[in-house]
Amino acid sequence: MSVGNQAVQISDHVYWVGAFDPNLREFHGYTTGRGTTYNAFLILSDPIVLIDTVRKSFYDEMMERIRSVVEPEQIELIVSNHAEMDHSGCLPEAIAACRPSAVYASVNGCRDLNKHFAFGDDVLTPLKDGESIPVGTGSLTAVHSPMLHWPDSMVTWYEEDGVLFTQDAFGMHFACEHLWADENDPTVLMFEAGKYFANILLPFSKQILRFASKLAELNLPVNIMAPDHGPLWRDQWGAMVERYGHWATQKPTPKAVVVYDTMWGSTRRMAERIVAGLQSVDGVETQLIAMSESNRSDVATAMLDAGALLIGAPTINGMMFPTLADVLTYLTGLKLQNRIGASFGSYGWSGQSVKQANAYLEGMHFELAHPGVGARYVPDSDELEDCEAMGVQVGQALLDHVTSFQ
Ligand code: FEO
Repeated sequence: MSVGNQAVQISDHVYWVGAFDPNLREFHGYTTGRGTTYNAFLILSDPIVLIDTVRKSFYDEMMERIRSVVEPEQIELIVSNHAEMDHSGCLPEAIAACRPSAVYASVNGCRDLNKHFAFGDDVLTPLKDGESIPVGTGSLTAVHSPMLHWPDSMVTWYEEDGVLFTQDAFGMHFACEHLWADENDPTVLMFEAGKYFANILLPFSKQILRFASKLAELNLPVNIMAPDHGPLWRDQWGAMVERYGHWATQKPTPKAVVVYDTMWGSTRRMAERIVAGLQSVDGVETQLIAMSESNRSDVATAMLDAGALLIGAPTINGMMFPTLADVLTYLTGLKLQNRIGASFGSYGWSGQSVKQANAYLEGMHFELAHPGVGARYVPDSDELEDCEAMGVQVGQALLDHVTSFQ
């Protein structure tokens, strides 16, 4: 981001005073190939308000940006929209430096920030859903957004400039070159926004749909939507809300993701023949993911718009290969809906992995489209034929499954 160490003005009264973390490559289990930003905002109105802070290790960077436009002691209010440590990690230091007259959070936010920092009873003031505080010629209003993506989450609406501060929602991990979304590559934006949704927000699809309805009912005149990660949205903010609605419905598409790992190449060969079978079914798109070169968050991203998941897991010591257990544990938590699945894998003297992977898929409420294929040591030509037939069967089942949602 070519913004130096200065605050960046984004509207008449609002300045971006966040921090830039381009080298971040891991965020609690999620690979962040393009780094991230921790966005914090300063409203230079009456009173002066700091919206969110940054990860603790970036406190100095935030304070330098704040000092480029105002002395910290002039900040009268701090609002914490989200208690997770990438936005609240330096809240105690910010309070000590600014000595604000009030620090606001949602009701749950006060509880959760106190659990992290043991502030005591006198430091935090709860903002109820819909409650406003006067700022400038208008107000700053709390709109609670529980489970987007923590129980404390809320967004705040700054009436004077029409800025909606949305904390994690509508954000992405992207240490963007340009602060405005419309100045960045749209392909990169859509990929990173989708990856963020798949890995952070997908389990809360119902709450997202509820929140989208709430926003529509409130009908707030928004000029800028300002999340706590990645670029800020101006003209395209409504399209992002619509995109969230689309992702949250979890309608299946005719895309099949084949995820595998391999010890001596056998499960890889099975995966490739399954892909050949899937590709022979007109209208089915396939994506092959080797876990030796990928992270669980890549699989979650691939599954955002996929209707089928095929797991290729060798058996090792009576258990499915650990990288697949990792992916399946992670995906179970993401609560994918409306998907079908199947499993396959090679083994030496016992072949538990297919049964174990199928149990995961059924636990995720996936419909099993095939009982599974195993191959002892090295798949022979008959077993590879079985794999191809499995690909065809799952591909056809996927088309039927997608049709049933239209
Ligand atoms: Fe960006 Fe939930 O923290």
